[in-house]
Amino acid sequence: MGCVGWASLQPSPLCNPEARDGNGLGQLGNPPLPVPIGMWDGFGELLNGNFAIEGRNLNYSIATRNGNSIPILRDCSIRIPSGQLWMLLGPNGCGKSTLLKVLAGLLKPTHGTVYVKRPKSFVFQNPDHQVVMPTVEADVAFGLGKFNLTQDEARFRVERALDAVGMSNYLQRPVQTLSGGQKQRVAIAGALAEACKVLLLDELTTFLDESDQVGVIKAVKNSLGGSGEVTALWVTHRLEELEYADGAVYMEDGRVIVHSDAATIMDYIKERQASYVNQINSSRDS
Ligand SMILES: Nc1ncnc2c1ncn2[C@@H]1O[C@H](COP(=O)(O)OP(=O)(O)O)[C@@H](O)[C@H]1O
Ligand SMILES: [Mg+2]
Repeated sequence: MGCVGWASLQPSPLCNPEARDGNGLGQLGNPPLPVPIGMWDGFGELLNGNFAIEGRNLNYSIATRNGNSIPILRDCSIRIPSGQLWMLLGPNGCGKSTLLKVLAGLLKPTHGTVYVKRPKSFVFQNPDHQVVMPTVEADVAFGLGKFNLTQDEARFRVERALDAVGMSNYLQRPVQTLSGGQKQRVAIAGALAEACKVLLLDELTTFLDESDQVGVIKAVKNSLGGSGEVTALWVTHRLEELEYADGAVYMEDGRVIVHSDAATIMDYIKERQASYVNQINSSRDS
């Protein structure tokens, strides 16, 4: 399936984030949005082990040269259960990468709190920035030096990680012979070999062809493996990838708008697309 292409849509005036209720996560206000925001019951269970990622009331602003501050993230709260694959979606420029970097600790929030299980690993968009060693085996083993492992233990970890991402047969392959998606899978294997508990993945499929895209997302899904040990937050603009998600978060204009199961988010985005198209058509007709 091709990209649905909603990412270029601008937020419609139907969305009125200012009308949200006090905790910033309740149902949007007047006029009503098609789907109520669900699943968020506060932070009573904060840090109780059931959640691998929690961000609370996160704000991030950039200071301009003339002393003003531009808000990029506005009061974002997000909570991802351990062992699940969640997706972060929204139009270009809405703040997905910024939120992911705040969760990764690469950016310090202006306000708010972050909890992410460790070790965590951030995988970037460009596959050529992920792999640094000449062969697949060397690349996956690259981060293991700090663990003081025997050679057998290191080899076991590398093989198990490559197996999880479906790259067992590529152990000795030079990395420059790999496709973009295979490089992404090797990068994920590197994180798994280091016993990473949280994978933060920023638009990994952007530069990939369709079969490579599917290979990467299936590798991530398989990496979670149902053990509850590894959790992934996957930023994407491809609606069709939602079918692999346990849950999803939809953002607009620096805010978390919906935080729910994948089917609800899918319906929500489709309704947003339809209302946006209707709006354009009616403004053309008038
Ligand atoms: N360092 C920066 N300086 C100025 N603006 C920035 C910076 N980083 C991000 N932005 C702006 O913040 C907004 C959100 O960016 P980003 O998180 O990359 O969005 P997304 O990943 O959803 O496309 C965009 O409008 C972007 O231009
Ligand atoms: Mg981005």
